[in-house]
Amino acid sequence: MADALKIGIAGLGTVGASLVRILQERHEALATTCGRAIDITAVTARDRNRDRGVDISAIDWHEDALSLAQTADIDVFVELMGGAGEPALTAVKAALSRGVHVITANKALLASHGIALAGLAEEHGALLNYEAAVAGGIPVIKALRESLTGNTISRVYGIMNGTCNYILTKMEKEGLSFEACLKEAQRLGYAEADPAFDIEGNDTAHKLSILTSLAFGTAIAADDIYLEGITNISIDDIHAAADLGYRIKLLGVAQRTDSGIEQRVHPTMVPLDSVIAQVDGVTNAVAIESDILGELLMVGPGAGGNATASAVLGDIADIAKSRPGAQHVPAFGRPVTALLPYKQAQIQSHEGGYFIRLKVLDKTGVFASIATRMAENRISLESIVQHSKQPVDTDGPQTIILVTHATTEDSVRKAVASIKGEGYLVGEPQVIRIERPKTA
Ligand SMILES: NC(=O)c1ccc[n+]([C@@H]2O[C@H](COP(=O)([O-])OP(=O)(O)OC[C@H]3O[C@@H](n4cnc5c(N)ncnc54)[C@H](OP(=O)(O)O)[C@@H]3O)[C@@H](O)[C@H]2O)c1
Repeated sequence: MADALKIGIAGLGTVGASLVRILQERHEALATTCGRAIDITAVTARDRNRDRGVDISAIDWHEDALSLAQTADIDVFVELMGGAGEPALTAVKAALSRGVHVITANKALLASHGIALAGLAEEHGALLNYEAAVAGGIPVIKALRESLTGNTISRVYGIMNGTCNYILTKMEKEGLSFEACLKEAQRLGYAEADPAFDIEGNDTAHKLSILTSLAFGTAIAADDIYLEGITNISIDDIHAAADLGYRIKLLGVAQRTDSGIEQRVHPTMVPLDSVIAQVDGVTNAVAIESDILGELLMVGPGAGGNATASAVLGDIADIAKSRPGAQHVPAFGRPVTALLPYKQAQIQSHEGGYFIRLKVLDKTGVFASIATRMAENRISLESIVQHSKQPVDTDGPQTIILVTHATTEDSVRKAVASIKGEGYLVGEPQVIRIERPKTA
């Protein structure tokens, strides 16, 4: 049997501790599968004395991640600390600069520095693998980077944040407010004490930026993602969506268009009978549409110690099984020098259907005025209804729901702005984009 593959793990939290346990429990089985043992030779975390539920007494402890990355006693540096900056960045650079392979679950780091790190990996003949960074246990990175090579991808989209999907699912199933569902998510450990990063869409954006690069062969452009979170979604929107045959999901969508590549993260109405609409709770899903294969939809656990460690383990096993001197798969599917510049399509040019919910004063002529403003902006309406669940109260404001046929964001924004100028709106209009899967 070949020499053992020596692993150093920086970060022994939810994912790191699961990985240690799995590597220890399955040591023999993995050695048989991979043709060589996988040994954990070094670890680090912040607090040496914390009980992590795993036995690390026989493993070398390093006081910091950089020292671990620089030790001669590792072949692979596994970064499971998190954070876009230090100490992850310097430690990962140090490992790659020595030709040590790096495996990370850190989407924040990759969204900010992924291409530079991929360049460093290539320069020093090391691998940069990160299956766990997007959609946890779902093997979407490998699918895009390797399995779909040769396909031209037109769209990749998905539910990539379990916290948001849990909240939206619970709102619909139990008729509870956003705030109540967020509290429950925090109680169950699905949401952080500070949930902003999840519910405002940043976490999904980081993951989307990585998928975009893989799908379209472009440099990562995380700052060019159009971003809306779910904090603005009310139970009324969820009910109205259901009445119209839709469900609201926080989607990350990257799409090839005539004017460039659209990257957007926002609450989205998907048809109730589509497969992605059935993805409930903390589960993740990623759909890839391509010319040769057609539509591929992968659904599975997007987070949690075991699911994420499973993806990290797959990356480790790939290295353990690879033959010495074998050609490395580039981190983003093609050599860094072959990545195309990212050409951003502006959100204003986005084309699709829209759901628009307006609260209006109950005055004669309002319906006609709304229809006129839409027509002036060349928006054709699939439906315009007074929302059926609204109690009929002749004096109070009424809710009007519009669903448009495919139009542009620019037209919708102009129409809504002119409706706002009419003086009969109460509160802010709600506008939600509709996304249709290629096949239901
Ligand atoms: N949890 C998931 O479900 C999930 C899913 C997909 C991807 N990820 C990604 O996986 C990575 C790890 O996530 P996690 O949930 O396991 O995080 P976590 O539970 O917060 O664990 C982080 C670990 O890193 C250590 N650490 C933090 N700062 C450090 C520093 N300055 N120096 C040395 N060690 C440091 C911590 O040490 P102490 O334990 O001593 O505090 C802890 O062991 C992140 O990039 C995350 O985005 C997580």
